[in-house]
Amino acid sequence: MERGSSLPARASGSAGTDPAALRVDAGSRSPVRVFAPASVSNLGCGFDVFGLALEEPGDEVAVRGVAGSGIVSLTVAGGGGRVPGDPASNAATIAAQSVMHRLGSDAGVAVELRKGIPLASGLGGSAASAVAGAVAADALLGGGLDRTALLECALLGEREGSGANHADNVAPSLAGGFVLVLPGRTPQVVELPTPAGLTLAVAHPAIEVETLRARTILGDTIPLAAGVRQWGHTAGLVAGLFREDWELIAHCLCDAVAEPLRAKLVPGFAKVREAALGAGAAGAGLSGSGPSVFALCRGRTVAERAAAAMAAAFCDEAGLGSDTVVSPVNRVGARVLETG
Ligand code: HSE
Repeated sequence: MERGSSLPARASGSAGTDPAALRVDAGSRSPVRVFAPASVSNLGCGFDVFGLALEEPGDEVAVRGVAGSGIVSLTVAGGGGRVPGDPASNAATIAAQSVMHRLGSDAGVAVELRKGIPLASGLGGSAASAVAGAVAADALLGGGLDRTALLECALLGEREGSGANHADNVAPSLAGGFVLVLPGRTPQVVELPTPAGLTLAVAHPAIEVETLRARTILGDTIPLAAGVRQWGHTAGLVAGLFREDWELIAHCLCDAVAEPLRAKLVPGFAKVREAALGAGAAGAGLSGSGPSVFALCRGRTVAERAAAAMAAAFCDEAGLGSDTVVSPVNRVGARVLETG
């Protein structure tokens, strides 16, 4: 995978931006290309509030100025023809359009989306498309939107892609890291520290789980006892990360709320989780709404063992092939690969 420059630190939002500076020369055909990484959200106890970015896979968006106004065209590569090709219902172009709207730009823009993240995999695919779309549009137009503004624009795209309103995939895909997203109208993102050696293993089985369906089965209420366990573990995991206390981290990597209801959507899940723990992982669980399963490990060697053990368990227990990823936490998030 090609490496690019990280996002420049941005000090300002759109206020005071000169619209004349935001016109794109339609004669300039050289694209701006952006990569946004996959993410693992929830991390056991942190339903909708914890997320972290992986190094790979990721989605790419290329944008260039063309004659016309607004999103003039969208082409999609990957995704088996199932990613919306209409700019009004595609996560990347909705996010890009939102950036253009904020910047007051009526430039003509052609968009190419390359899906590298499997659909309905629990790896934040729609979030990555939306992030790449927002960052690419901003870079093309020289808008310099700050991270909060880009997050808000990407969230609009993510909402269309996943049918739900949560920032635990968008936030790490945009800015990298292991983050806590405080819920609210404008989600606040708090970066959490990670102990040296923390490595993720992910097994993605060859099935799909639609996020919307996986959220619908949760209902609206949880038993008080489950709430107590969950907020205890959520707070404990944060403390464990700050203290680099692997025992505390391992103790808290569990989910009393969503996973018990969602496990039935992923054949073999209990045995796959058990296999990861047997291979030495500190904890394991559904990545987002699944079907991917993550294992959080101390060191790459353990993570590689856990990935292989999870893939073997998916095969033995459910007859499912799976792809695996072993990755440290990606500290950078979205990257501009070509500046146009
Ligand atoms: N936090 C979200 C959920 C992530 O679990 O529904 C969806 O990928």
